[in-house]
Amino acid sequence: MRPSSKNDDSMASVYNFMSAEHEDERILLEQFKNTGTKQAFDKFVEGISRHMAFEEDVLFGVVLRHTGEKDNMLLDEIALQHSRIKSLIKDVYANIQEQTNPSDTVKGKVSELEELLRSHDSMEESDFYPWIDEFAAKEEINDAFEKLKQIKPNL
Ligand SMILES: [Fe+2]
Repeated sequence: MRPSSKNDDSMASVYNFMSAEHEDERILLEQFKNTGTKQAFDKFVEGISRHMAFEEDVLFGVVLRHTGEKDNMLLDEIALQHSRIKSLIKDVYANIQEQTNPSDTVKGKVSELEELLRSHDSMEESDFYPWIDEFAAKEEINDAFEKLKQIKPNL
C-alpha cells in the first residue's frame, strides 16, 4: 500500500530532485563529448543554467530565511563556483566548431568543467540540499518547486 499521498516525502525532497538533475547534467555533458555539436552543448547548458538559477533565486532564499543571515559562507562558495561554471561554458561556446570533433581547447574546457562539477555537485549533495530538506517546511519546499516552473535559463 502507498503511504498517504498527501504527505509523500519523496515528492518534496530537494535532495532527490536536485541529485537526479546532477545526474542528467553529467549524461548531457557526456553526450556533448561524444558528438561535439553545439546542439548537444545547448541541451546541457539549458538544464544546468535553469538548475543554477533555481538554486540562486529560490533555494538560497530558503536558507537565508531560516538562518536569518544576509550572507552565508556555503552559499557564497556555491555562487562563486557557479560563476566559474558559467565562465567555462562561455569558453566552450567560444571554441565550438559545427560539424567537427571537439578541438583540444574544447576538450580541455570540458574536462575542467567535469572536474569542477564533481566537487560542486558533491558539496551541494552533502551540505546544501539535505539542510533544506531537514529545516524547511514542506509547504516551503513545494512552493520552491512551483517557482522552479517559472524559471528560464539565465545564460
Ligand atoms: Fe550548483
